[in-house]
Amino acid sequence: MAKQIVSIISVLLFSFMIFSEVKGAKKSYGIYDTNTAKKLFVFGDSYVDSGNFLHSESYKPPNGMTFPGSPAGRFCDGRIITDYIASYLKIESPTPYALRNSSNMQYGINFAYGGTGIFNTSIDGPNMTVQIDSLEKLIQQNIYTKIDLQSSIALVNAGGNDYTNALKTGRFLDLPAFMESLVKQMSVNLNRIHSLGINKVAVGSLIPIGCLPTLNAISFRTNCIGLFNLVSQDHNKKLLEAIQKLNNQTGKSVFITLDLYNSFLSTIETMQKKRAENSTLMNPLQPCCDAKNLGDSCGTVNAKGEKQYSLCENPKVSFFWDNVHPSQNGWSAVYTMLQPSLAQLT
Ligand SMILES: *[C@@H]1O[C@H](CO)[C@@H](O)[C@H](O)[C@H]1NC(C)=O
Ligand SMILES: *[C@@H]1O[C@H](CO)[C@@H](O)[C@H](O)[C@H]1NC(C)=O
Ligand SMILES: *[C@@H]1O[C@H](CO)[C@@H](O)[C@H](O)[C@H]1NC(C)=O
Ligand SMILES: *[C@@H]1O[C@H](CO)[C@@H](O)[C@H](O)[C@H]1NC(C)=O
Ligand SMILES: *[C@@H]1O[C@H](CO)[C@@H](O)[C@H](O)[C@H]1NC(C)=O
Repeated sequence: MAKQIVSIISVLLFSFMIFSEVKGAKKSYGIYDTNTAKKLFVFGDSYVDSGNFLHSESYKPPNGMTFPGSPAGRFCDGRIITDYIASYLKIESPTPYALRNSSNMQYGINFAYGGTGIFNTSIDGPNMTVQIDSLEKLIQQNIYTKIDLQSSIALVNAGGNDYTNALKTGRFLDLPAFMESLVKQMSVNLNRIHSLGINKVAVGSLIPIGCLPTLNAISFRTNCIGLFNLVSQDHNKKLLEAIQKLNNQTGKSVFITLDLYNSFLSTIETMQKKRAENSTLMNPLQPCCDAKNLGDSCGTVNAKGEKQYSLCENPKVSFFWDNVHPSQNGWSAVYTMLQPSLAQLT
């Protein structure tokens, strides 16, 4: 990849921290039987974090405006994919690790932390290895038993922030080597989650990063940037190979891929087509909560208390909530597309 492109991207991506979000996880989704409830353990970044990144924008308005109605730790106006998968499993969204106490761990724990990656990133949060260490500690403390884990499900989404960080640190210049080491570490991590006793592990593929508002600004929000989507495609090809290999080793389908790449892309394309026929519909490449300056994010206020973002009329018709995260509407559409894969979890 040309050096100029890399530096342009570096600038654009500078504010591209995929902060996690999460939190709101305490709201009830209904009345379920706690005794037979499965448990969900979540690892990765802001796409699946429901409230571990305390003191971040995820705990500031307008995040959480659609659900639970006020900021609750998700980088979203409402529910994220973690919440939808929990509801699919007929359990409440698992408690974020940062908010755990003696009586709220029955549905599992969400260890995911916004801005983090498989490797270290610029965010001072736990990388995926450290997140798995945290589960291991809970097992050592007998908070979760072997039987608990056998019927548990893990949800993993990580890698996006590693690419952002690689752009900042120059490791992106040797992309193939970086990609290979990243997928290798992911494979080690996945194997470790299984070794701890979890028999179903759902792994999100890397989203088409060229569609993110941080990057689609290059096309004035008319198109996803193909060059970047190719990076995602390459990554996913390697990830899929690694997952196949792991499944081959275990002799069963422990690892399931959640095809976020195609779910994002086809949802966006469908929304674009509908908009071509009805120009009043919202552009799916336009973030609802749009930061005014590079370096600001949704929820940033300046020293005078002035909002450093603008908000769209109705988040419920957007695909992207902010520069890097889907809105609840976006996640809901993606969740619908993931149904066939999710059926393999039960
Ligand atoms: C544990 O957290 C829940 C919310 O998740 C809260 O309602 C409850 O009061 C807390 N319990 C203890 C013992 O702190
Ligand atoms: C994850 O973080 C821990 C502690 O900060 C560090 O020791 C370890 O090297 C990191 N792992 C990776 C794969 O970067
Ligand atoms: C990751 O960061 C931690 C500090 O948070 C540091 O101790 C560790 O050496 C780093 N690991 C790598 C592989 O960079
Ligand atoms: C699966 O394992 C068999 C041997 O056990 C091997 O022949 C085959 O190539 C493996 N497939 C993959 C995708 O690794
Ligand atoms: C176009 O979309 C708007 C919603 O933005 C809707 O109210 C209107 O009925 C649609 N028009 C047509 C012709 O479908």
